[in-house]
Amino acid sequence: MEIARGIPEIEKRVVVAALLFSAAMLALLAYAAVRLGITVPGCVTNVKPFANGELIQVAPGRYEAHVVSKMFSFKPSPLKVPRGSVVDFYLTSQDVVHGFYIDGTDVNLMALPNAVTYGQAHFEKAGKYQVICHEYCGLGHQDMVGVIEVTP
Ligand code: CUA
Repeated sequence: MEIARGIPEIEKRVVVAALLFSAAMLALLAYAAVRLGITVPGCVTNVKPFANGELIQVAPGRYEAHVVSKMFSFKPSPLKVPRGSVVDFYLTSQDVVHGFYIDGTDVNLMALPNAVTYGQAHFEKAGKYQVICHEYCGLGHQDMVGVIEVTP
């Protein structure tokens, strides 16, 4: 059997085809961005409901809290829900890593930029629940608190 010398013709064709496909894909991406105005959101906090944070009632006694952390506050705050509510927390950060601990509950999360973390709390007692940032995040870290108001 003869030993192949140099690059076989078939491999050259495969490389040329791969380069052509890559060039075509880049051209289509450029066309989509420039001519069609299609852009990919670069950041979770650029899109609703994370643009400003939002509390959404999804059913009687059921809420979704979309919380945005930012030096040195949580939005929205205060969060108001009636006693007996079950709240799903979806949390993200607009800048650095923050902590999110709701005093008196099992919810203890990290707020990460470009990611969403999840926790659920059942508020059986009325009152004010403090939300505490437990991850050092800068000079105002010790003042970074939020409030959840559970009404009777
Ligand atoms: Cu936010 Cu510490």
